[in-house]
Amino acid sequence: MPRDILVTSALPYANGSIHIGHLVEYIQTDIWVRFQRLRGENCLYVGADDAHGTPIMLKARDEGIEPEDLIARFAAEHKRDFDDFGISFDNYHSTHSPENRELAEHIYRNLDAAGHIERRVISQAYDPVKGMFLPDRFIRGECPRCGAADQYGDACEACGATYQPTDLKNPVSVLSGATPEERESEHYFFRLGDFETFLRDWTASEHLQEAVSRKLGEWFEAGLKDWDISRDAPYFGFRIPETEDKYFYVWLDAPIGYMASFRNLCERRDDLDFDRFWAPDSDAEVHHFIGKDIVYFHALFWPAMLSGAGFRTPTAIHAHGFLTVNGEKMSKSRGTFIRARTYLDHLPAEYLRYYFAAKLSAGVEDLDLNLDDFIARVNSDLVGKYVNIASRCAGFVTKRFGGEIGDTLDRPELFERFAAAGEEIADLYERRQFAQAMRRIMALADEANAYVAEREPWVLAKREGTEAELQAICASALTAFAQLTVYLKPVLPATAAAAERFLNSGTLTWDDARQPLTGGRIEKFKPLLHRVDPDAVEAMLAASREDLAAKAAPQANQDTDMDTIAIDDFAKIDLRVARIARAEHVEGADKLLRLTLDVGELGEKQVFAGIKAAYDPAGLEGRLTVMVANLAPRKMRFGVSEGMVLAAGGDAGGPYLLAPDAGAEPGMRVK
Ligand code: MSP
Ligand code: ZN
Repeated sequence: MPRDILVTSALPYANGSIHIGHLVEYIQTDIWVRFQRLRGENCLYVGADDAHGTPIMLKARDEGIEPEDLIARFAAEHKRDFDDFGISFDNYHSTHSPENRELAEHIYRNLDAAGHIERRVISQAYDPVKGMFLPDRFIRGECPRCGAADQYGDACEACGATYQPTDLKNPVSVLSGATPEERESEHYFFRLGDFETFLRDWTASEHLQEAVSRKLGEWFEAGLKDWDISRDAPYFGFRIPETEDKYFYVWLDAPIGYMASFRNLCERRDDLDFDRFWAPDSDAEVHHFIGKDIVYFHALFWPAMLSGAGFRTPTAIHAHGFLTVNGEKMSKSRGTFIRARTYLDHLPAEYLRYYFAAKLSAGVEDLDLNLDDFIARVNSDLVGKYVNIASRCAGFVTKRFGGEIGDTLDRPELFERFAAAGEEIADLYERRQFAQAMRRIMALADEANAYVAEREPWVLAKREGTEAELQAICASALTAFAQLTVYLKPVLPATAAAAERFLNSGTLTWDDARQPLTGGRIEKFKPLLHRVDPDAVEAMLAASREDLAAKAAPQANQDTDMDTIAIDDFAKIDLRVARIARAEHVEGADKLLRLTLDVGELGEKQVFAGIKAAYDPAGLEGRLTVMVANLAPRKMRFGVSEGMVLAAGGDAGGPYLLAPDAGAEPGMRVK
């Protein structure tokens, strides 16, 4: 019977792009998932965007859009990035979904009914200007210990002290600059201490890596504290049942998002049953892949919540370390803060998948992407070793034997040894020892190349009467290549698919490594992978630095060349019909008019437009036009400009303000 395995990766926040640090996790998970499927297991992989919380609410506000629109935009972007990196989710959902609301309420109600939720009044920093409570990260001030200026509310970056935001000297709200006030409010707490016995036992068994268990031991020593699971309005999240203005803290419903994504998948798939995976007595496996920074949530809160609410607990939590680039933390100024899309603009996904595989172990150690090593590794292993085996033999088979591989292996022992290595390699994949698996596979590739070098088919090809021998040598080499393709398939799905087409092998599964490739015929060989172009790596770093420059100066000069953009890029622009409510001259400005625009549901916006030369302000009032409503606000000499109106013009004249036909209403979307 195949194993039933549900696998997750941590849910990325819906207010930022996927970067290569994130990809360590999604690639690691995907390799494991593809390996399980290749072995014939019933392995399901679900993900979602983590869509709730204060930063997402504030970013949407900044852009003048609804949080729902912001998270929809990032969901589309994330999905495209994951697809293009070959991350094979069976379902990609959102924590802001009906399934998640229902499950979060259900779990909360069960925990409450069992007495695990406590209500308590606490006092907290409040921004009187913005009218909201401030998360620790939104308060800055002087460190109470060393006096360093401009430190966060939870820890000092200068001396490392940790403290409460109320301890900061001269604190200010990052949002408004106002001095925070202390205000009281009732909060809801999850009594983690109720689960101490269960957790001590659970965390000591095989569910966790050893280093993680040890770390948890320290947390037990420090004592399990109650967990604050509520936030006051305004907040973007799910309202807590039976309250007016309390919301679930984002980290309460985030892991529940794993279940919600799976439930959503079950609704579409008749062969899947939610309870079979999540009931307390389930014999399915549940595996969570996460980064080491979020162990506390996954190894303490999450199993406690599940067991307290009557669900099964995870089979295992697999934590990985953090990515550094060229030995240092990813850095925007060095160009090593590389977004997934920027990478894809310059290099094939498979190279990064292979490089991470070659570096990943089952531990929590950090891993380094050294770009010189990356180039050398891909060139030597993938191009120089793996693909080389096929490229050295394919030509003879095509030219001399019409593509026929023939029925005889010149060296059956080579095939036998490669087949026998399969279980060892499978065991390494299963235990997430990908680096060791890659080393083992490349050692086999070395053997195959040594074999070809020893038999020298290119020498035989020049002699008469050696046809059968030549064909059998190629059959042995191509069989070895097919076996390596199977072993690399979890890491290199696209290359493997191209190899399958070349070999006419059909879709290879793990067991196919125990079949020689005899009897078939190959297609004409096309190089499956190319050497890494060092210039492409340089260009990627330069573009990453540019991403940053573009962010810093959004109004930078316009490009005149006709680069195309994807529809998703266009969809990022929120174009709206606006009514010019007021138009005024601006003291001291010779090109600008100050427009006050009525944008319907988005309210009023002030925009400075360079149209003074062509328009008399009085004549503009009441007119309809079109504006970019989600342009980041820009501080100008005369005030803040909160958007842009659209006008045609150029050397031939203008500007001509664009206007919709009669009937359009302020606030309407322009698509
Ligand atoms: N939204 C939470 C996870 C909720 S799971 C119920 C979150 N999101 S995140 O976008 O910040 O990170 C997503 C995953 O990427 C996390 O597992 C995190 O550890 C991982 N990584 C983020 N940056 C990373 C590196 N530089 N290197 C390796 N992994 C990194 O946390
Ligand atoms: Zn300090």
